[in-house]
Amino acid sequence: MEASSTEKKRRATRADVARLAGVSTAVVSYVFNNGPRPVAADTAQQVREAAEKLHYRPNSVARALSTGSSKTLGIVVPDLSNPFFSGVYSALETAAARNGYSTLFMASHQNPEKEMDRISQLIAREVDAIIIASAQPTSALAGVPRKECPFIFMDQTQPVPGAKCVSTDFQAAVSLAVRHLLGHGYTNIAMLSGKADDGLSDKRIQGWYQAHKETEIPVGPVVQAHFTRQGGYDATLALLDSDHRPDAIFADSDLEAIGALRALHERHVRIPEDIAIVSFDGTVDSQFSWPALTVMQQDATAIAERMFQAALDPQNTPDLQLIDTTLVPRQSCGCLK
Ligand code: RIB
Repeated sequence: MEASSTEKKRRATRADVARLAGVSTAVVSYVFNNGPRPVAADTAQQVREAAEKLHYRPNSVARALSTGSSKTLGIVVPDLSNPFFSGVYSALETAAARNGYSTLFMASHQNPEKEMDRISQLIAREVDAIIIASAQPTSALAGVPRKECPFIFMDQTQPVPGAKCVSTDFQAAVSLAVRHLLGHGYTNIAMLSGKADDGLSDKRIQGWYQAHKETEIPVGPVVQAHFTRQGGYDATLALLDSDHRPDAIFADSDLEAIGALRALHERHVRIPEDIAIVSFDGTVDSQFSWPALTVMQQDATAIAERMFQAALDPQNTPDLQLIDTTLVPRQSCGCLK
């Protein structure tokens, strides 16, 4: 079995491999797709040797057309700078690779138009499913072409018709975080909120009110911080300059808390003696900040694995899965010295 010089120069096709191995093109497909028909071991070996000689690489788009699966998941990432998403996507990539799936990541930069464009690109590439933390409110998701392939929405706490949703139970988690601060005896707690403009429909803000409802302590201010470091920094300076300086801050993402730490250090505010902080996410940054942040730890691995299973087997997946968090006490709330 000798590959001709012409066959070596241009990109080899399935037909070239079939010719060199002396089998049909269908048999070549069965070997590279592991079925649907069995192939005798020595024939499969012959096909693999021919493929190696010709430097043949199976065409994934052609494979998608013939098998109905590209073994690829499309993932739309909202914010490449947020370590929380890195943690989830790293676990997702691991789960996918373990099961023979490739991952194709695209960034939406939290822009609804870019998000729709990235979704179209992924559909054109015949991905098996799309996993997305959407930049759009739940009410706008009807515009997402959910019939093209299975869609899995992350951080969506309300069911989305025709799709699967996996999210942390934000309301329960935030309520627990705020109750932790109240339990320390703080009486004027401010919230840095990524989505304050979304008001009461945001589950994190609902958790904030829920925790206060159970006490006599008046509800403190909710300040918008945009899920960014800069947002946390600006919002904290505004709180320090206000007439009602808080004695504790709950930040609803680690990025905001990191910004808050900087603002407090710049103003020589001691943490937790003057102002305590509890944050949300539990990224690696929360362990290495000073002081280390007390956090509600989201379970990035569980979120990733549930999303992967939902992508693989949407028929047997509940429409909405809410994941628990864990409170990790460190220095910033006053638990550890
Ligand atoms: O979208 C930003 C935030 O939502 C992240 O920091 C994380 O909390 C996610 O759930």
